Amino acid sequence: MSRKKVGVLISGRGSNMSALIEAAKAPDYPAEIVGVLSNRASAVGLQVAAAEGIATASLAQSKFLSRDMFEDTVTQVLESWEVDIVCLAGFMRILGEDFVNRWAGRMINIHPSLLPLYKGLDTHARAIADGATEHGCTVHYVTPGLDEGEAILQAKVPVLAGDTPETLSTRVLVEEHRIYPEALKILANRLP
Ligand code: GAR
Repeated sequence: MSRKKVGVLISGRGSNMSALIEAAKAPDYPAEIVGVLSNRASAVGLQVAAAEGIATASLAQSKFLSRDMFEDTVTQVLESWEVDIVCLAGFMRILGEDFVNRWAGRMINIHPSLLPLYKGLDTHARAIADGATEHGCTVHYVTPGLDEGEAILQAKVPVLAGDTPETLSTRVLVEEHRIYPEALKILANRLP
């Protein structure tokens, strides 16, 4: 079995990245994490990945003259790792159309809501404010429209009386860590 090579883009703690790294340790998992790139040098996830012996890179968009130049460099790094698949895991930057099209069908994201509900930020607070009775997470293909690509997997959790954004996000995160590795497996098996 040839395992698909995966590059993970993060901005922070990288708990979803860690879930992917752990899943990929199984010998029959169809993908391996070959590199982790952050747009923030301080991202804790970079240290976690390095401790696992995974290649890391950090690129600050502010150091580039334009978003296109930043994203071209991200692509160069991913290509240097020979990645087949890109996983966005808490990567808090909106990506431009050229970058998204470059990785079309091979780039996925995890989002903390039951898309198409609650695209964008502060999803848990907005679900609570609306009186939603259920919330959750979605792994979807990345397309030029924000949080709009076709879903691969979703998981639901109940919204409980007295939930705060923190308690709800903790409950959702457990499901994120479960479905992201499952969705990556589905994508890796779908690709030729
Ligand atoms: C996760 O909850 C992820 O779903 C969310 O950021 C968090 C990152 O946590 N992503 C988005 O909101 C994307 N729009 P992590 O760094 O521990 O994986």
